[in-house]
Amino acid sequence: MRIEGMRLVCGLIVVIVLLNSKKSESRRSKSGSRSNSFEYNAINCRAHSASLVDYGGVGDGKTSNTKAFENAIRNLSQYESKGGAQLYVPAGKWLTGSFNLISHFTLYLHQHAVLLASQDMNEWPVIKPLPSYGRGRDAAAGRYTSLIFGTNLTDVIITGDNGTIDGQGAFWWQQFHKKKLKYTRPYLIELMFSDNIQISNLTLLNSPSWHVHPTYSSNIIIKGITINAPVTSPNTDGINPDSCTNTRIEDCYIVSGDDCVAVKSGWDEYGIKFGMPTKQLAIRRLTCISPYSATIALGSEMSGGIEDVRAEDITAINTESGVRIKTAVGRGGYVKDIYVKRMYLHTMKWAFWMTGNYGSHADSHYDPNALPEIKGINYRDVVAENVSMAARLEGISKDPFTGICMANVTIGLAAKHKKQPWTCTDIQGVTSGVTPQPCDLLPDQGPKKITACDFPPENLPIDMVELKKCSYTMKHA
Ligand SMILES: *[C@@H]1O[C@H](CO)[C@@H](O)[C@H](O)[C@H]1NC(C)=O
Ligand SMILES: *[C@@H]1O[C@H](CO)[C@@H](O)[C@H](O)[C@H]1NC(C)=O
Ligand SMILES: *[C@@H]1O[C@H](CO)[C@@H](O)[C@H](O)[C@H]1NC(C)=O
Ligand SMILES: *[C@@H]1O[C@H](CO)[C@@H](O)[C@H](O)[C@H]1NC(C)=O
Ligand SMILES: *[C@@H]1O[C@H](CO)[C@@H](O)[C@H](O)[C@H]1NC(C)=O
Ligand SMILES: *[C@@H]1O[C@H](CO)[C@@H](O)[C@H](O)[C@H]1NC(C)=O
Repeated sequence: MRIEGMRLVCGLIVVIVLLNSKKSESRRSKSGSRSNSFEYNAINCRAHSASLVDYGGVGDGKTSNTKAFENAIRNLSQYESKGGAQLYVPAGKWLTGSFNLISHFTLYLHQHAVLLASQDMNEWPVIKPLPSYGRGRDAAAGRYTSLIFGTNLTDVIITGDNGTIDGQGAFWWQQFHKKKLKYTRPYLIELMFSDNIQISNLTLLNSPSWHVHPTYSSNIIIKGITINAPVTSPNTDGINPDSCTNTRIEDCYIVSGDDCVAVKSGWDEYGIKFGMPTKQLAIRRLTCISPYSATIALGSEMSGGIEDVRAEDITAINTESGVRIKTAVGRGGYVKDIYVKRMYLHTMKWAFWMTGNYGSHADSHYDPNALPEIKGINYRDVVAENVSMAARLEGISKDPFTGICMANVTIGLAAKHKKQPWTCTDIQGVTSGVTPQPCDLLPDQGPKKITACDFPPENLPIDMVELKKCSYTMKHA
C-alpha cells in the first residue's frame, strides 16, 4: 500500500514538474534543488527517506560530513521499528570519516555522489582487533574503524545508482610502506555480526586496505560492484567474506593490488578458538584483474574452516592465479567442498595454485599440530590462455590435500612457459579431459568420470532471496 502510495505521489510530482518545467528549471538554478525519482531492487524498501543535506551535509569535497552522517543516522534510528529509513546522498563530493550504520537502514548514493574518505586520523576511531584474528594485520594493538561500519545489525543496505566511495588510500599505503602505522588500516566497508545485508550497484575506489569485509554475518547479497585500486597497492583485496554463512557475490568487476575475492575464517589459534566457518558461498560472473594475486583466494586465514563454495562464470585477465588455496601448518580448520565451473583465464602465472606452506602466522603461539584439512576441490570447464605454468599444487607432508578433481580443462601455455607445466606434491585426486597432461598424482579417469567434479544439485538458500522493487522521490537532485 505504502509503495503504491509513493508511486502515485511520484507520478503526480512528475506531472507537476512537467507542467512547471520552466519554473522548476529556474528554481533549480537558484537553490540547486529539484525533485528526483528513482527505483532499485532491494531486500527491503523503506517507509521513510531523508537526504544528507537535511542534516547539514555539504558536498564540496572539503567540508567534513562525519557529523552530518552521524546526526542523520541517529535521527533516522527512530524509524528502525517503523518500516526503516533510507539516507540519500545527492550528487556532490562528500568528505567523511568513519560512521556507523543502524538496522533496517539503506544508504543510497546518487550516480554522481562520491564519498571521499577523510585523511584526518582523528576521524577514524580505533577499535579492538577481530576476535578470530587475535591482532591487527598491520599492527597488533588495534584497528581503525572502517569508513562505513556496522555491528550487530539486521537488514542493512548500501546501494546506489553506481555512486562512488573513494577511500583515497594512497595516504594510508604510504604510511604502511614507511611502517608508520600505530594501528591496522581501515577497510572501506565492514559489517560484523550482522544478518540480511545487501551491498550493490556501487563503485569502490582505492580502499586503504580491503574494500568489502562482511564478517561473522549471514544472508548477504553483494551485486553489481565495481572495485578499482592500483595493481601495486598493498592489501587492497576486493571482497572478503570472513566467517560468513549464506552469501552470494554476483556481477562484480574488480581490479586490485591483492586478491579480487578472498574467502577467510580467522587466523591460527585465534581462528580455531573462535571456530566460525565461511560456508554456503556463491560467486558468479566475476571479472578480475590482479597481476600479483589470485582471482579467488581461499585463505590464507581459514582456521574456522571454509566449506561449500561455488564459483561459476569467472573471468580473470592478467592475474597471478585462478582459484587458489593458501594455508599452513598451525592454521587448523579446513577447506572442503569447493566447486568451480566455467572459468576463463587469460595471461596468468598459474591456472591452479595450492599452497600448504603459506606461513604468515599471527604470532609464535600457533599449534604446530594444528594441520588444515583440504579436501574435495573441484574444477570443471576451465579454459586458460597464455599461462606460464598450468599448476603448482603443494600439499603438506603427512597432511595431503585430497579429493582434487579437474575435468574438461584446456590450458594454453605462453610462448615463454615453464619447462614443467605441472608440479604436484602431497596431493591426491583425479582428472578427466585435462590438457596439458597432468602430473602423475592426478591420474586421468577417462571421459565417463567427467561428472565427478560437478556442483551439488540443490541451490543455496541465498539464491531463493528475491529482491523487491523500491521507488522513491527526493526533493534534492
Ligand atoms: C543495479 O543497476 C542495474 C542497472 O542500472 C539495475 O538493473 C539493477 O536492478 C540494479 N541492482 C540492484 C540490486 O539495485
Ligand atoms: C530529527 O527527528 C525529529 C523527530 O522526527 C525531528 O523533529 C527533527 O527535525 C529531526 N532533526 C533533523 C536535524 O532533521
Ligand atoms: C555483538 O554480537 C556479538 C556476538 O553475538 C557479541 O559478542 C557482542 O557483544 C555484540 N556487540 C554489541 C556491541 O552488541
Ligand atoms: C559504474 O561506474 C564505473 C566507474 O565509472 C564503470 O566502470 C562501470 O562500468 C559502471 N557500472 C555500471 C553498471 O554502469
Ligand atoms: C602473454 O603473457 C605475457 C606475460 O607472461 C605477456 O607479456 C603477453 O603480452 C601475453 N600475450 C598476449 C597475447 O596476451
Ligand atoms: C567444456 O568446457 C567448455 C568451456 O567452458 C564448454 O564450452 C564445454 O561445453 C564443456 N564440455 C563439456 C563436455 O561439458
